[in-house]
Amino acid sequence: MMRCEVVEGSVLKNLRAVQRPMGYDGDCFLVPGPVRMGQPCLDAMATPVMTARGAEFRDEMAKLNSGLRYAFNLSPSSPVRKSQSWEGEDGYKVIVVSGSGTAAMEMVIANRFRPNDLVLVPTNGKFGERVAEICKRFCNVKHLKGEWGRAFDLGEIERQLERKCYEAVLICHNETSTGITQDAESIAEMCTRHETPFILDGITSVGGMPVHPLEWNAEAVVMGAQKCTAGPSGIAAVAINQNFVERVETIRKQGDTNPLYYFDMIPALKKGDDDQTPWTPAINLVMGWSAALEGLQEETNDARWNRCAHMAKGVRSLFTDLGFELLADASGRSASVTAIMYPEGIDDTWRTRLKDEFNTQVIGAQDHLKGKMFRVGSMGETPVEEMVEGCVRMLECFRACGHELPAVDVAAYF
Ligand SMILES: Cc1ncc(COP(=O)(O)O)c(C=O)c1O
Repeated sequence: MMRCEVVEGSVLKNLRAVQRPMGYDGDCFLVPGPVRMGQPCLDAMATPVMTARGAEFRDEMAKLNSGLRYAFNLSPSSPVRKSQSWEGEDGYKVIVVSGSGTAAMEMVIANRFRPNDLVLVPTNGKFGERVAEICKRFCNVKHLKGEWGRAFDLGEIERQLERKCYEAVLICHNETSTGITQDAESIAEMCTRHETPFILDGITSVGGMPVHPLEWNAEAVVMGAQKCTAGPSGIAAVAINQNFVERVETIRKQGDTNPLYYFDMIPALKKGDDDQTPWTPAINLVMGWSAALEGLQEETNDARWNRCAHMAKGVRSLFTDLGFELLADASGRSASVTAIMYPEGIDDTWRTRLKDEFNTQVIGAQDHLKGKMFRVGSMGETPVEEMVEGCVRMLECFRACGHELPAVDVAAYF
């Protein structure tokens, strides 16, 4: 839909003044999730209802399981019912969760740890801090609370691991609140050396940048549909390895499980063999996500990771060349989201004007950074042309807000 055409006056006036790069004239939706869903995903969600336990739905579930294995960068499985679509040769299983990414993260933490366990959670933004908060509900936490946007102190993590007291290390892999991606490879190497399980919130990394559960020996990785895979909001998934499953089962046998019911992993593990979920599945969301994952498989992980990285690099170079400051340390700037500080004299009214007058949406900051910066998402199915046009409009909106900027060939950055 070309929303641009139905917005009155100022939008069209402002857009006409802008030099158009490649003819993209739709609305620019450059938000780090939920991202725009493609037509195949929307069409699949409009499928008439089917029974939750019949063969028809289990076919859909098998398709989704197989697509998820691809997105998680795991070994392939057949998208066919009764073929163990959720498993592969690498020992990982995927489990679909009805709920957003936070629900899936809670399911992992609540099932995997006993109330007396101690876990290590280094953080540098809101979503890492959320991981620590969830952990606090279910076990003990050593929270290495770092400044937002600063890279982790790997030496400190190593020193903590040398204490040999941690049941696991949990990180938010791609910190959407600050635009920093953690050095998961180095942390994984340390965890392997210290024989400490490693768990990742991969909610804005899986499908948007290289994630290697097997090579990183990750016990669990979580993803949310509405982010890099351009699926619907309200459904998520976890990939867990054999060690994770064994620990969950042992804790249950010992009678030391945290209180839980809906997110109990044991019934989910029983139903998975049968391409089923323990409770009524989010049927139409399953179909929508499955269609979105078909799109990912057509594009391929490599191509999507490259497109996201290419767009993020263009945004970074453009804005830093123009004198803007980025929040995240240069060593770990994200491929799926860029956090840009507002220049002096600009606040979130810029974002309101960008939306109302330039038909372009980015997102603001959270907590103490509210009103001080904006975040540009480069994930999902966003075409490069939309990112170029969105950046042209962002610059034009800054000029309209009184922030002087030189003329610049935006397209050349992409
Ligand atoms: C890295 C990260 N973790 C967790 C969440 C929370 O996910 P949800 O809102 O799907 O529960 C988000 C949401 O933006 C996120 O970006």
